[in-house]
Amino acid sequence: MSVYDEADLYAAAFDWPVDDEVDWLLATVGPVASVLEPFCGHARFAPAFVARHVRYVGVDRSLAMLARVPRRDGVIVVAADARDFEAPGAPFDLAWCPVNSVTHLVDEPAALAHLVCVRRHLRTGGAYVIEIEFVNHDGPWPGAGHDKGHWSMPGPDGTTVVAAWRRISCDRAARTGLEHARFELRSPDGTVRRVVDEQYVMRTWSWSDTQRLAAASGFAIESVHDHRATGRLPVDPGPHLENDGVNRYVVLRAL
Ligand SMILES: C[S@@+](CC[C@H](N)C(=O)[O-])C[C@H]1O[C@@H](n2cnc3c(N)ncnc32)[C@H](O)[C@@H]1O
Repeated sequence: MSVYDEADLYAAAFDWPVDDEVDWLLATVGPVASVLEPFCGHARFAPAFVARHVRYVGVDRSLAMLARVPRRDGVIVVAADARDFEAPGAPFDLAWCPVNSVTHLVDEPAALAHLVCVRRHLRTGGAYVIEIEFVNHDGPWPGAGHDKGHWSMPGPDGTTVVAAWRRISCDRAARTGLEHARFELRSPDGTVRRVVDEQYVMRTWSWSDTQRLAAASGFAIESVHDHRATGRLPVDPGPHLENDGVNRYVVLRAL
């Protein structure tokens, strides 16, 4: 059973506030009246965008995740593959891809097809902001298998979702990592009620992959920002950001 088939558990685990992240996005990329979110899942960002008068269109291939999307004015979702989709309402001002989702596309042609498709949906001067961990496949990498996140999310009914996401191993030739996700729903007394446990193959993006993919799909890399935990400050872009296990935000500007 996939984490994304267990959409209720996923939604409970990823239930942290996102207003601050949306405010940062809007302040960073300029005037935004419309946003496209590929890999949108249950569209947890949609209410925050709509509350700021930003029209929201999400794309995801998981019908279970899309079934949990809040139905409200200003929110449209489309069931489609991120490599090739048609989203209504283009051209968009902003596209947004949080939590490393773009690395679900495990080979370079897939990643490039996705970026070309997103570029086609943006106005010239629009932005695509992706949250990603830079990984270098060629240099030394002592932390190849590491904890990508371990957290607990209390629910309104006294239950807790305990989530853990880690990289088990890497295939450096294939430029992929094998990742393990485990979510447990626990009763107030700690009894485990439901478990979803899954391994995924994800692509690893180095800094030079990012540069090459951006250039090939009609984007310029405008800026790179540190992770939410460290204030999202702009950082010097480059290969020194690789292999430290930290997600960064990359602002791609549509040429
Ligand atoms: C980590 S979740 C992120 C969901 C949402 N953006 C969020 O922040 O909660 C990744 C999502 O990507 C979707 N996904 C994975 N591969 C996809 C593909 N090739 N095309 C469309 N959606 C895909 C999954 O169904 C899942 O909902």
